[in-house]
Amino acid sequence: MTEAKSDIISALLLEERQFPAPAGFQKQAVVRDPAVYQKAAEDPEAFWASFAEELSWFQKWSQILDWKPPHAKWFVGGKINASVNCVDRWAKGALGQKAAIIWEGEPGDQKVLTYEDLYQKVNQFASALKKLGVRKGDRVAIYLPLIPEAAIAMLACARIGAIHSVVFGGFSAEALRDRINDAAAKLLITADGGWRRGAQVPLKQFADEALTNTPSIQHVIVVKRTNRDVRIQAGRDHWWHDVLEGAEPHCDPEPMDAEDMLFTLYTSGTTGKPKGIIHTTGGYLVQTYATSKWVFDLKPSDIYWCTADVGWITGHSYLVYGPLANGATIFMYEGSPDWPQKDRFWSLIERYGITIFYTAPTAIRAFMKWGSQWVDKHNLSSLRLLGSVGEPINPEAWIWYHEKIGGGRCPIVDTWWQTETGAILITPLPGLTTCKPGSATKPFPGVEAKVLNEKGEEVKEGGGLLALTKPWPSMLRGIYGDPKRYEETYWSKWSHLKNMPQNVYFAGDGCKRDKEGYFWLLGRVDDVMNISGHRISTMEVESALVDHQGVAESAVVSKKHEIKGEAIAAFVILREGVQKGEKMVQELKDHVAKKIGAIARPEDIIFTADLPKTRSGKIMRRLLKDIAAGKVLGDTTTLADSAIVQKLKEEYKEE
Ligand code: WTA
Repeated sequence: MTEAKSDIISALLLEERQFPAPAGFQKQAVVRDPAVYQKAAEDPEAFWASFAEELSWFQKWSQILDWKPPHAKWFVGGKINASVNCVDRWAKGALGQKAAIIWEGEPGDQKVLTYEDLYQKVNQFASALKKLGVRKGDRVAIYLPLIPEAAIAMLACARIGAIHSVVFGGFSAEALRDRINDAAAKLLITADGGWRRGAQVPLKQFADEALTNTPSIQHVIVVKRTNRDVRIQAGRDHWWHDVLEGAEPHCDPEPMDAEDMLFTLYTSGTTGKPKGIIHTTGGYLVQTYATSKWVFDLKPSDIYWCTADVGWITGHSYLVYGPLANGATIFMYEGSPDWPQKDRFWSLIERYGITIFYTAPTAIRAFMKWGSQWVDKHNLSSLRLLGSVGEPINPEAWIWYHEKIGGGRCPIVDTWWQTETGAILITPLPGLTTCKPGSATKPFPGVEAKVLNEKGEEVKEGGGLLALTKPWPSMLRGIYGDPKRYEETYWSKWSHLKNMPQNVYFAGDGCKRDKEGYFWLLGRVDDVMNISGHRISTMEVESALVDHQGVAESAVVSKKHEIKGEAIAAFVILREGVQKGEKMVQELKDHVAKKIGAIARPEDIIFTADLPKTRSGKIMRRLLKDIAAGKVLGDTTTLADSAIVQKLKEEYKEE
């Protein structure tokens, strides 16, 4: 048997393995009764409302759901504040002295904030924002390292009804500028710098570069994190510690309508322009609260660690809002997993007694590659539950995670969701579900997901496209400033078909169902790539490339990557007279990293004389993908000959 064949067979065997919830876990689980699925399916609105009842409202809703496809309103008429639910409720109750945030910086510095501490900081910072003129409905951009101030800033915005827009600290100055301008943000919160692999990321310097052309920004608040020298522009820039000084210690929370915006978060779509996904207050809080409680089985004694940065939706929903709304203790770590050594994560788990650990498959694959000797040095017996998010987890990585990190005793929740869905939609319930490595298993109770074919017919067993067929509380409410794009992107895939309801959400993911109805997510079916669990559109990278003066045209595709899941391969036609070669390759990679951020740096740059296009002028991406993967051609240097590209094109039958 060839090696490739035996690999496929062993992968299939892994997929066939089943892992029922361990009996010990099941006994103590928050959800133990399988009847929850049936009950929720019979009346999803009542199901979601039962979680809403557990939150604190200024005024109760008069209607659970108002659904005029594709526009939903949840908990209509309800008045609520997210910071009250995440902070006041616990600080003012029995949990005042409980740790809300335990944090470790990359250099090893530590901080613990109790709920009472968090209450004080959020109130003070909210007052400071108000003093600088921030009002309900204003947009505030946040560009910070993963430090407690990031959560404080988000919660303070929520307290006064300002809409936060967190921009990942790994994004470039230009990416930050575009996001600030799209949202017309009034204030920016950043830091002098952040730590990454022992080096300093000069955030304020990037911010200054971004701010050369952001007319809406009136003030900048700067956290002192690394002590590096930064420019402070008088009148505009203020130190975080200075604005806190003298700020009112109490700030009344704004009673927000359930449908008032809580935040926008930019994510890549199929065009070159990232879209600001809108989330509102009530429904988002209800579903992040509910899923944190049921999927992560949160208990008062847990120390819960979600490794995501606040710059991504996972950091919003499962680092900040969901767990804090449950009064949980969250752990936050600023830096890189391999600093100073490749056992940093395991050392953190051991030292802090982490009980729940939620990370991405790309990280798990890197840990596998580094070897289990790094894991074996540490006692990970505090762990009781593991989670995965961001991309499909390959069965080998699942099994390794289960055995090496979970010691064979921890259930794994493989959670499927998106920036747009706001909260987890397809996932095991750890005390109930029998898991199959590589499958996100079944929709969360109250969620209705289906696999449809292009004609909109349901595929009960087999492959197709993932669709959501009922509204859910934390669904996006739109795209900031672009209502049309909202309808087109998510709700029009099947709407032109006869006999098709107009209310089916297209997720953009391929999906297969097996004979037991399990969902197996297969990755994106559009031009969105998933690089290390991060969404990047092919068009964004293409526009960054053609922005370089030496580039005439480019086409970007993804290729399989052992650790990142997918990596970027860029085909580039240079302008006349521009020198090819290694120097240009580096220059182009750096250019993309500068335009977007290091996560978008292409793995391969392939110079080509021509791009294969269909008669209608569409780039033949499948051919390019096969070339990038080495399935066609093998030696890509021959692409420099346009006759070869022509020939390939003729031989290739694009569907
Ligand atoms: C992918 C991250 C398979 C998927 C929360 C989706 C997954 C995109 C999983 C959203 C999973 C996320 N299994 N694929 N468990 N989780 N994805 O918006 O392609 O950054 O559409 O949200 O990640 O990425 P986003």
